[in-house]
Amino acid sequence: MKESLLSPAITIYGAGYVGLVTGACLSKSGHTVRVLDIDRGKLDSLAAGKTPFFEPELDHVLAEAIAAGRLTFAHPDDACADAPAPAHAPGAPATPFVYIAVGTPSTAAGSADLRFVRDVIDRLAQTASSGTVVVMKSTVPPGTGTAIAERLAQRGIGYVSNPEFLREGSAVADWYHTDRIVLGGQAAHVDAVATLYSDIDAPVVRCDITSAELVKYASNAFLATKISFVNEIASLCEITGADITAVAAAVGMDHRIGPDFLRAGIGYGGSCFPKDTRALDYLSRFKGYDFNLLRAVIEVNARQRMLPVKALRDRLGDLAGQRVAILGLAFKPDTDDTRESPGMDIARMLLAEGALVTGFDPIAHAHIDDEQFTACDTLEAALEGVAAAIVATEWPCFVSADWSALIARMSGPRIVFDGRNVLDQDAIHAAGGTYLAVGRPSTP
Ligand SMILES: NC(=O)c1ccc[n+]([C@@H]2O[C@H](COP(=O)([O-])OP(=O)(O)OC[C@H]3O[C@@H](n4cnc5c(N)ncnc54)[C@H](O)[C@@H]3O)[C@@H](O)[C@H]2O)c1
Repeated sequence: MKESLLSPAITIYGAGYVGLVTGACLSKSGHTVRVLDIDRGKLDSLAAGKTPFFEPELDHVLAEAIAAGRLTFAHPDDACADAPAPAHAPGAPATPFVYIAVGTPSTAAGSADLRFVRDVIDRLAQTASSGTVVVMKSTVPPGTGTAIAERLAQRGIGYVSNPEFLREGSAVADWYHTDRIVLGGQAAHVDAVATLYSDIDAPVVRCDITSAELVKYASNAFLATKISFVNEIASLCEITGADITAVAAAVGMDHRIGPDFLRAGIGYGGSCFPKDTRALDYLSRFKGYDFNLLRAVIEVNARQRMLPVKALRDRLGDLAGQRVAILGLAFKPDTDDTRESPGMDIARMLLAEGALVTGFDPIAHAHIDDEQFTACDTLEAALEGVAAAIVATEWPCFVSADWSALIARMSGPRIVFDGRNVLDQDAIHAAGGTYLAVGRPSTP
């Protein structure tokens, strides 16, 4: 293949969940893409044909794009990595696009840490050619992009805010079946970016940069609110004797409400909801506004994680020396992402109480450095001899497991705390276990 065909029309900073999925899917659509990352371990893994994290479908989309010569990887410091996209495959758009998909984690104060974004912008302000359009996929607080756009405009570089809504665990499918594509910026730049998505059947919302940024935060805050709301109703269920599974199912049948995100449990986690709700709360306070509702959502979520620990203390007394299994270390099924995972947090709380904790997850690895914690390779091994098990992630293999055989491996009170309200309560009771859940009557 000639060099001109390999020259990237699209450069992406960040080979994480968003950057790699964006790169793979844009390549699949026929664009030539180069993904840059500062993590050489990730680049080595990609060079060896290994996706650096688990994401369904991503392996084969990446493999196809690489085999077709449309997707390459590099370190930003490597020679030519920052050169503006010089040539394009026939039919490819003439505008060089640079996507930013680097992390925006929380600072200790709760604000969005923009240092990775700033590094990339500083670099682009030096190296990108006039006519380039920078596309911001990283989640950045409202107001961030207008300042960046003004700076880049001085060099003739365009800027579009294009927040990403994909979910880990279904990221590739979400790319093609997104509910909307949001593009904030000047019309000419927005139109240019929209051409890249012409094969996606979704409405395109055109707006200003700050509105696009706020759409992302508002969406995550609303979904988090739904989760904390149903968890508040679950608490009322426990007080009144109602069953949240029946209540939530019937409430969700109202089409104005909908059934999604109405499952009570130990709360949301992951790399987005916790940090984005904190960042929006921080921004509100910074601007002198009290977003009371959002603060309550965050507080309720923190409380939910303590429920299993409190329940075990109520049933077992002092937890020092008690054996407890955590089932599910990823923050949700179909991902290996353990960032802000409830399961990991609960494990740490139990360890702080002196419990002996085993953990199992079908994919995710525990990052807990504590001699009282044992990561197990199987569900059976994790449950061997434990007094209690906490289901922290609703992995299908936990739901379909033979709980009568699993309960037999446990010892003592054989408590199963179903933190996701997904197990068969009767089967656990029949096997001699004690079933506890969130917002449901316990047995016995
Ligand atoms: N993960 C999600 O489900 C999701 C969904 C929507 C939006 N987002 C947002 O997208 C952004 C990226 O999230 P993610 O989960 O993909 O992050 P991630 O942590 O998985 O990946 C970020 C990558 O950026 C790289 N990086 C950092 N600085 C760099 C630089 N200067 N040059 C090149 N690479 C650099 C890191 O090494 C890392 O590999 C965040 O702002 C996040 O909030 C994430």
